[in-house]
Amino acid sequence: MAIIEAKNLVKEYKTIIKDKGILGYIKHLFKPKYEKFTAVDGINFEINEGELVGYIGENGAGKSTTIKMLTGILTPTSGEVIVNGLVPYKSRIENNKNIGAVFGQKTQLWWDLPVIESFRLIKKMYKIPEGEYRKNLKKFTELLDLEDLLEKQVKNLSLGQKMRCEIAATFLHNPKIVYLDEPTIGLDVLVKENIRRFIKNINKEKNTTVILTTHDVKDIEEVCDRIILIDKGKIIFDGEKQKFKDNYGKNIKAELIVKDKVGNMAEKINSENFTITEESNELIKLKFSHEKTTIMNVMEEISKYCKVLDIHMQESELEDILKEIYKKG
Ligand SMILES: Nc1ncnc2c1ncn2[C@@H]1O[C@H](COP(=O)(O)OP(=O)(O)OP(=O)(O)O)[C@@H](O)[C@H]1O
Ligand SMILES: [Mg+2]
Repeated sequence: MAIIEAKNLVKEYKTIIKDKGILGYIKHLFKPKYEKFTAVDGINFEINEGELVGYIGENGAGKSTTIKMLTGILTPTSGEVIVNGLVPYKSRIENNKNIGAVFGQKTQLWWDLPVIESFRLIKKMYKIPEGEYRKNLKKFTELLDLEDLLEKQVKNLSLGQKMRCEIAATFLHNPKIVYLDEPTIGLDVLVKENIRRFIKNINKEKNTTVILTTHDVKDIEEVCDRIILIDKGKIIFDGEKQKFKDNYGKNIKAELIVKDKVGNMAEKINSENFTITEESNELIKLKFSHEKTTIMNVMEEISKYCKVLDIHMQESELEDILKEIYKKG
């Protein structure tokens, strides 16, 4: 059975329209005008326990708005959300026991306290049994390399240090579901790696369901099995990561190591089926769509003008696929 269900989920924001200038301001005071904006526009999905889902889309697509409805911070305009049998905005306290959430640069830790004191407060708040708390603290300290940070005040931590503590705090009460809204934003590559490893590790051990929004495609590549892609508040893809690549990743890049090349290839070959993107005497880089041609046909054409010694092919990376989709709108 699904642990998270969204049914025809809609969120409209009401925004104020003000006329320009002081007169506009005064008019607004007496007769405010509003317009509606639909940020999430009829979304449906079911997520099963233990899934690692990448919830992605362009800036402003409606990701954070969805996550906020799933956590119960926002009330949907219409439609339904059911998380672990609860309607989050109606049963916030009960729901909070089952979930953990990280929102980008906001912190749930107490600014002036040493990190360990925040952890102790969380232990009290969630009534985490002593043994469980110690076990998690030990494990998380190792995995996220927190040893030297625990006694430091949160306000004195760097962004990456703070996020590692934040992640630990989020998982401390063994939540069934964790929402991570851009947890790797602004972090260096090693910290990102560390956080990704941590998420995968905990998911494997505790079957924690994770919904991750991010603009770093590597987060998705390394952590998620399933992708939900939204655009202007609507889902445009929902399925396995590999299926996403198969559906959209039609472009193949190839690098050919060549010798005895005769003149400039790009000038000689004017094929509609493939494009030469770079060439030198020893190397030709090209791309083609496997809908239009095959590597055998490409080779046949190229071999007319040189000897091909070696070939290296690469499927489209997630990043390229997303770029294409975003560009096309
Ligand atoms: N409180 C609000 N009032 C009015 N409009 C809002 C509010 N919050 C978000 N929006 C609008 O709703 C749309 C979706 O915003 P949301 O924050 O969900 O996007 P997002 O997919 O998380 O984007 P990003 O990748 O930039 O974080 C945007 O156009 C945004 O301007
Ligand atoms: Mg967002």
